[in-house]
Amino acid sequence: MRFESHAKINLYLRVLGRRPDGFHDLETLFAAISVCDIMEFEPIPRGIELRCDDPGVPTDSRNLAWRAAEALAKRAGISRGVRITLRKDVPPGSGLGGGSGNAATTLAALNEFWQAGLSREALWELASGIGSDVPFFLEGGLCVATGRGEILTPLAQVPELWLVLVRPPVSVPTPWAYSALDALAEPPKSGQLSDLTTALDEGPEVIATRLANDFEAAVFPAYPPIAQAKSDLLSAGALGALMSGSGSAVFGIARDEADAEAMACTLAGRYPWVRVARTIRSAIVRID
Ligand code: C5P
Repeated sequence: MRFESHAKINLYLRVLGRRPDGFHDLETLFAAISVCDIMEFEPIPRGIELRCDDPGVPTDSRNLAWRAAEALAKRAGISRGVRITLRKDVPPGSGLGGGSGNAATTLAALNEFWQAGLSREALWELASGIGSDVPFFLEGGLCVATGRGEILTPLAQVPELWLVLVRPPVSVPTPWAYSALDALAEPPKSGQLSDLTTALDEGPEVIATRLANDFEAAVFPAYPPIAQAKSDLLSAGALGALMSGSGSAVFGIARDEADAEAMACTLAGRYPWVRVARTIRSAIVRID
């Protein structure tokens, strides 16, 4: 069984405040995008075996896909094993949810593969136990998320947006980004989420003016290459550009596919990882 495990971007992200459990309440708009990893699941007699073509990705219990397999097996009382082969295209530590998406794909795939028969609610519960962003990938499309990111309101309409993504050669640890944001003297002044959600059918030009991410104010001063990536995208012709999640990837909104391809060509020599992407419905797609 093979699956595409897609990435996400945050078109809007506002951090509302620190909670007693150490997490932060937030308000975000997630969008599933076409950039993806490929995951293959094969039966083995016992245990969880994970292989990955990216040597920088852990293949033990530090990997969220590994944890997802373990959690599902435990919950469903499965004693058979699985070998997971992961082919990465989504760079780890980039704010594109690669690890979270791999975990959600593993939950959905193994629920089928092992015929575990867990309900959507049970999968959501396991997903939110693995990470705040994981439930979104089970839903896909375009979702408003609140709480720590796990309470989802899917939006019926998914506008087609063409994007260019670049990843500067730096990684931002997510817990650091939250504490840097807490330490800002003034909270960032992001606009309202409704300014964006009410503009979703008005085309890329309007959507591009309503993007906002609180993390930019905390992360850009400490990671100048990320701020540079945003200004490079804008100089290359993006209608708007925004860091995704807590970074380090930045996306730019293009007018259409040809415009996105032209921007990607301009940026290709300057960044090790540049991709053209579009918004999509399902974040988990079975290939065979
Ligand atoms: O849930 P996840 O494992 O992705 O979170 C990683 C870290 O990011 C948490 O340990 C916490 O420090 C921070 N976080 C947070 N508030 C959120 C999500 C994550 O403070 N809503």
